Amino acid sequence: MRRISVFVMLCLSVAVVRGGEGMWLPQLLKLLNEKEMKSMGMKISAEDIYSINKGSLKDAIVHFGGFCTSELISSNGLLLTNHHCGYDAIQSHTTVENNLIKNGFWAATHKDELPNQGLTATFIDRIDDLTARALAGITPQMIAVERQSQIDKNLAEARKEYKLEAYQELIIRPFFDGNQYFAFVTTVYRDVRLVGAPPESIGKFGSDTDNWVWPRHTGDFSLFRIYAGKDNKPADYSPDNVPYKPRHFLPISLDGVSEGDFTMVFGFPGRTTQYLPASAVEQVVNTLNPARIAVRDASLKIMDKYMRKDEATKIKYAAKYASIANYWKKWIGESQGLRQSNAVDKKLAYEAEFTKRLTTQSPYRETLPKLGKLYESIEQYALARDYYTEIALRNVDLTSLMGGLKRLVTAYEKNGEQGYQEQLKRVTDFLPEFYKDFDAGIDQEKLGRLLTIYVDNLDGKFVPDALKRENLGLADGESYDKMVADLYTLSSFTTEKEAMDVLKLPADKAIYAIKTDPVYATSTDWADFYNASIATPYNNIRREIDLLQAEYTKAQMEVFKEKRFFPDANSTLRVTYGKVQGYKPRDAVEYNPVTYIDGIIQKYVPGDYEFDLQPKMLELYKNKDYGQYADQTGKLPVCFLGSNHTTGGNSGSPAIDAYGNLIGLNFDRVWEGTMSDIHYDPSICRNIMVDARYILWVVDKYAGAGHLIKEMTLVHPKKGKKPSRAKSKTKA
Ligand code: ARG
Ligand code: GLU
Repeated sequence: MRRISVFVMLCLSVAVVRGGEGMWLPQLLKLLNEKEMKSMGMKISAEDIYSINKGSLKDAIVHFGGFCTSELISSNGLLLTNHHCGYDAIQSHTTVENNLIKNGFWAATHKDELPNQGLTATFIDRIDDLTARALAGITPQMIAVERQSQIDKNLAEARKEYKLEAYQELIIRPFFDGNQYFAFVTTVYRDVRLVGAPPESIGKFGSDTDNWVWPRHTGDFSLFRIYAGKDNKPADYSPDNVPYKPRHFLPISLDGVSEGDFTMVFGFPGRTTQYLPASAVEQVVNTLNPARIAVRDASLKIMDKYMRKDEATKIKYAAKYASIANYWKKWIGESQGLRQSNAVDKKLAYEAEFTKRLTTQSPYRETLPKLGKLYESIEQYALARDYYTEIALRNVDLTSLMGGLKRLVTAYEKNGEQGYQEQLKRVTDFLPEFYKDFDAGIDQEKLGRLLTIYVDNLDGKFVPDALKRENLGLADGESYDKMVADLYTLSSFTTEKEAMDVLKLPADKAIYAIKTDPVYATSTDWADFYNASIATPYNNIRREIDLLQAEYTKAQMEVFKEKRFFPDANSTLRVTYGKVQGYKPRDAVEYNPVTYIDGIIQKYVPGDYEFDLQPKMLELYKNKDYGQYADQTGKLPVCFLGSNHTTGGNSGSPAIDAYGNLIGLNFDRVWEGTMSDIHYDPSICRNIMVDARYILWVVDKYAGAGHLIKEMTLVHPKKGKKPSRAKSKTKA
């Protein structure tokens, strides 16, 4: 009895949305959130945030390259985003002689701003609810494929009715696992130039060691500018283009924030899965995450060993290492957080309450039991799929390159010489980029190690015959190192020169050489096997799960009427709000929500690749030269924490105060709370933001780019409203 009542309590705590949890649709804020936001301290209205009639905050929020968020901070199209979001652009302009990564970059005039081919800035013009259109003619009896094909047909019809300008795009996305559909009309700007970036000793300070970690001291920002044609409309890059004139840009507050202040983060979160059944969460914690982590662990150790030995290797593998390490670390934190917050037990309690509330006639009585069974049956395929994709597609480079060669072979076999030539260009364009950051020795060691992990951890039915130990003459438990070493020795694709030599041959000879290459043969064999024996059964079960998940999500919304539901992230525009707040990660440890420049100096390790500083930083610190950017106590804030519910894709999102001003830039979450993609726990889920004052200080005092500060609008929203504070501020 006791146990049950604790369960019900737990369950209710899941059912009621607390400030902090949720990634809300901007067009529904008035209906669902405005009251709560105001009670938490917000001074503006929902209409000020999102309006279709007048300029609103949303007009300043820009999807950056489709993978990050950015925001306008001047009337001249100046765009603020993270350093790690601008990293590719910064790197592409970097040479040994002109090292923008190391030294930073500040354009003195518009003419010095650097164009970036392919980089886009996307605005949301309009959002339409297409739910009724999409779901017309859908019946509960339909099986997964029927339902999807009816929806696809409906949406294709709806699409035709949109009259778009050449520079506009229409994006239609499912929400609530396919229970709602929204259309987004977007305008895509194609001339986005690099304006400024701090050196990596600021923009990437702390690197992988500090990644996902609090206390944090990273100045993770960079500046770009949107250029438009003379009519202010999108245009291809041209020296004649002019800075874009926005409908709205964000003023920047110099007053900063204090613990408990209202904050809001506006951006494009990528993907979350909040409404999974307990069985699915358990699978992530106990089966899938451990496998992914183990593969990356082995891969990272191998890279690290070589990177420490040789400077050139370190540079070659820096970006790869960072990207593999990023989610490796995230998953460890996620699993730990899910365990520590008893996410599975809480979900089970929630499901018990859900089931209790169903009437005997409810159409949902079988939903959860069926979902549970499907998750059981997908598990072995999901595990094999994760091992395969992690190893062959993400961690070993040569096996993933073979996928590109396979397309070349297919093009030749299907469309002859002409198909071959078209595909060949793509491959040969890509190869220099590939080999620039490739070391065959490291790659070979990775494949040997990871293949051993694959075979040792999966049921024999997921190992293709060609890779079975008994067929390769390997002893039980013997590693694949030697076998892989032999493949690499005989392959023509371990160096750019040899690869190019093959591709210079006449098509038929090149195809023959590719098909008989030992790495190619092994990789494609493995890939074909994967498609037939792992991906196909996986996808078949997945379709059934998706259909039932749609049903379960719908059922949750009907059953828990008292709960406000927000749709999972899907790279569409969202608002999340919370407060500036620290947290207690474990027994006897409590974190303050703000870090200061003093902490940067405390972390400083001269010559270290993660914690080194440039002399200028030390000099400014010595002189306490903080200008108008210090807080009331005279200290320079660097980063702060909030209880805003964010995820990947929210990088570069503005942190906005109660008045609609920019106070910071979102760039990360705390490690203990990375589970918020699956289960948001208000006691430990926090997002990490760079304080706007630190950004301004770097631009102004560190870089001496005062002309950029002049473009911006700096405000003191708290001044005048609270005289005592304003006074102490003037003193500081
Ligand atoms: N963790 C942040 C994100 O998910 C920052 C990543 C930057 N990369 C890094 N390896 N430090 O994007
Ligand atoms: N750094 C992440 C990004 O690139 C944001 C951090 C997170 O996942 O919350 O979007």
